[in-house]
Amino acid sequence: MIMKKKVVFSGIQPSGNIHLGNYLGAIRQWVAGQDEKINFFCVVDLHSLTVPQDPVQLRHETRSLAAWLLAAGIDPEKSTLFIQSHVSAHAEGCWLLNCVTPLGWLQRMTQFKDKSARQESVLTALLDYPVLQAADILLYDADEVPVGEDQKQHIELSRDIAQSFNYRYEEEFFVVPEPRIPATGARLMGLDDPNDKMSKSLAHRRGHAIRLADDPKEIMRSFKRAVTDSGNEIVFSDDPDKAGVNNLLGIYKAVTGKSEEDVLADFADARGYGDLKKCVAEVVIDLLTPLQEQHAKLMDDSAELDRLLALGAERAAAVSMPKLAQMKEVMGLVLPAGA
Ligand code: AMP
Ligand code: TRP
Repeated sequence: MIMKKKVVFSGIQPSGNIHLGNYLGAIRQWVAGQDEKINFFCVVDLHSLTVPQDPVQLRHETRSLAAWLLAAGIDPEKSTLFIQSHVSAHAEGCWLLNCVTPLGWLQRMTQFKDKSARQESVLTALLDYPVLQAADILLYDADEVPVGEDQKQHIELSRDIAQSFNYRYEEEFFVVPEPRIPATGARLMGLDDPNDKMSKSLAHRRGHAIRLADDPKEIMRSFKRAVTDSGNEIVFSDDPDKAGVNNLLGIYKAVTGKSEEDVLADFADARGYGDLKKCVAEVVIDLLTPLQEQHAKLMDDSAELDRLLALGAERAAAVSMPKLAQMKEVMGLVLPAGA
């Protein structure tokens, strides 16, 4: 029997400060699965506009993020890499899905509650954010969505929206997607406060995140300043007091791919947390140095980068525009003559 290849879709916002959590939680999974599946990876610039952005900065970050994804190993021959706003099906699909999504579902989203609490004026788009995300995923009939832990609720909502549409209009119209969350590295915590998730929006705080662009000195400094406890026991633990050490060990484990046992063996002779921090910094520096070199090269050739992104948009549109037309059709819209 011929098995249909699975379709993978994921996205990441070009809001600057891409960090080690994004890499270990999401991007690394994208790179690893490229051979067996049909992959779509999207720089979701329209999502970034749900909070205020500087236009010049946003344009720069969008290209830079695409270059990070390529530098990390996304291969444009194997995967379709594109910018969300280049394919109009996403914004249009979002509108159509708004028409099958009850408001209450959106008001319940924890990310909306968190983000809106941090802002004086909340934009309509921030509430609608997960519907645009559902459009991203559903337009490609994605089976799997590789993301970090924090996106689980949004993917569950995409499932609900798919089912709501299928129920109202046509059974099995949309594939109901599954989240794929990695076993390690799915939730890196801030180095300056291991109770806060490592996040782009806090990455301006010194020593909070390891940004992919940080030079070796900065990486070493951030790890050396990492908050730990007053003890000296190097163990994996869910005791809140040990959250700092647990996070450092988790990063080491995710980067090296070693088992917990082997990780602990590496630190059996460590003299306190200083040694642990230094070792973790070293493996992270080794991981990021080649990525940074590749990123710099790609940023030097913006014509080639733009060419690859245009190609990606064309391939993405070839899948999502026909699906959008089918959505319009089943919803009762009149398609233009000749469509
Ligand atoms: P974002 O930064 O919100 O655009 O997230 C891009 C991807 O990185 C999503 O799949 C997130 O789940 C993942 N991600 C973001 N922050 C972390 C973190 N601290 N640890 C692990 N994964 C993360
Ligand atoms: N909301 C996701 C995040 O912040 C980004 C995203 C947008 C996404 N569209 C997506 C992730 C589709 C997976 C699939 O990380």
